[in-house]
Amino acid sequence: MNEKIRMMYSEAQVDARIRELGAAISADLDGEEVHLVCVLKGASFFACELAKRMTVPVYMDFMCVSSYGNGTRSSGEVRIVKDLDTSVEGKHVLIAEDIIDSGNTLHFLLEEFRKRGAADVKICALLSKPDRREADVTADYIGYVIPDVFVVGYGLDYAQKYRNLPYIGVLDI
Ligand code: IMP
Ligand code: MG
Repeated sequence: MNEKIRMMYSEAQVDARIRELGAAISADLDGEEVHLVCVLKGASFFACELAKRMTVPVYMDFMCVSSYGNGTRSSGEVRIVKDLDTSVEGKHVLIAEDIIDSGNTLHFLLEEFRKRGAADVKICALLSKPDRREADVTADYIGYVIPDVFVVGYGLDYAQKYRNLPYIGVLDI
């Protein structure tokens, strides 16, 4: 393995951006409790940091999904690997996601939480690669819009590696 990682956003930059997101989301919620759904595993670092920067009551919940991008299944099919612990019926749901790529995962989750009767469903993504979009998904809050590169760190992995890097880097394979 000869992978090189080039720094894109430092730990200090990411932390400062998450503070801004937390403040903006808290202002919009205006004191209402939010059901913060962390999409495992990639969003775990982001969701925890975001929750720390929010000033409204936060109920943290975790969901793990996997998507079939190729093979015999149609592209974009998403499967629930680990479901939420609690019903989202009547709740203000905020999905915390590491990165929006094709948008298929978030498209599925939006539909799913609406079906389950959430009062509203919003999306906060640390990163977004709009050039790669297949599904029609728009996030309410985005940390950084980036070009079509492969990024790792701050929860994002390459074959399960590099999640624990404290910064966001571009992987050159
Ligand atoms: P999609 O939006 O359904 O295509 O899937 C997004 C998921 O793909 C993210 O939650 C990540 O787990 C993964 N992903 C997409 N782009 C990257 C990347 O650049 N680095 C690491 N993981 C990525
Ligand atoms: Mg993910």
